[in-house]
Amino acid sequence: MKIVLITGANRSIGLEITKQLSKKGLFVYLGARDLEKGNAVVQELKKEGFENIKAIEIDVTKPESISAAKSIVEKEQGKLDILINNAGISGEFPQSASTASITAIQNVFDTNFFGVISVTQAFLELLKKSEVPRITNITSGLGSLTLHSDPSWKYYNFKATGYMTSKAALNAYTIALAYELKDLSFKVNVIDPGYTATDFNHHSGPGTVESAAAFIIKHTVTDENGPNGMFFSNDIEDESGVSPW
Ligand SMILES: NC(=O)c1ccc[n+]([C@@H]2O[C@H](COP(=O)([O-])OP(=O)(O)OC[C@H]3O[C@@H](n4cnc5c(N)ncnc54)[C@H](OP(=O)(O)O)[C@@H]3O)[C@@H](O)[C@H]2O)c1
Repeated sequence: MKIVLITGANRSIGLEITKQLSKKGLFVYLGARDLEKGNAVVQELKKEGFENIKAIEIDVTKPESISAAKSIVEKEQGKLDILINNAGISGEFPQSASTASITAIQNVFDTNFFGVISVTQAFLELLKKSEVPRITNITSGLGSLTLHSDPSWKYYNFKATGYMTSKAALNAYTIALAYELKDLSFKVNVIDPGYTATDFNHHSGPGTVESAAAFIIKHTVTDENGPNGMFFSNDIEDESGVSPW
């Protein structure tokens, strides 16, 4: 059975990925920074008939929490097949490039960038024990420098300095990681769920969590010929879903 860890899975897109992967017969560690919240969600999921889901405490900004989660997965499974770095924050607004505080920008980076690196590095040893290791970093269209430079892009005016730079940095990190692991059986990609109605944006997005999760799964659960070092976006209308960097 394939073993998956999803960070920030107690609600919204992470929760929906958990549900869809459970239905496909994978075992999912539902990452939650508050274990009580995670356990409550798992109880509800069990009542709804979902199986093979276990809550695990993981705060991506806390090294001791990441290390404890790694020890649990190691003891219980001895490997990890799929890591989905989904936990993310938008940060405080406004995020003007000329006035945003360094502290506010650092806070966003702590979760969206350094958090992903910390979790990935901690779990790499377990992923290397999988025959089909996959790492998906959840990015945003707002992390695309190419799109942000195009005045005709529909989100051209969404210039949230801390958030967009954290996702652009995450994209660059993912390229470096995919390169480093390319001669192993790893597939490492960034995936943008598209502008999706969740708590993250006070449910303003036009997309659904169902569509976002299905898109993420499609580009994560791939065979040996699957893509590596790519950027996919659910907001790209082209069938390939490939986004410009
Ligand atoms: N929604 C969109 O339109 C959209 C578009 C593009 C990209 N994204 C990306 O998609 C991902 C998921 O977004 P979403 O819309 O589902 O967000 P959300 O509704 O705000 O949920 C975020 C999840 O991340 C968790 N989280 C936040 N900080 C954490 C930390 N330090 N450690 C562990 N977990 C943490 C939250 O846990 P708590 O419940 O404890 O707060 C929650 O489970 C994010 O990376 C976001 O940047 C979203």
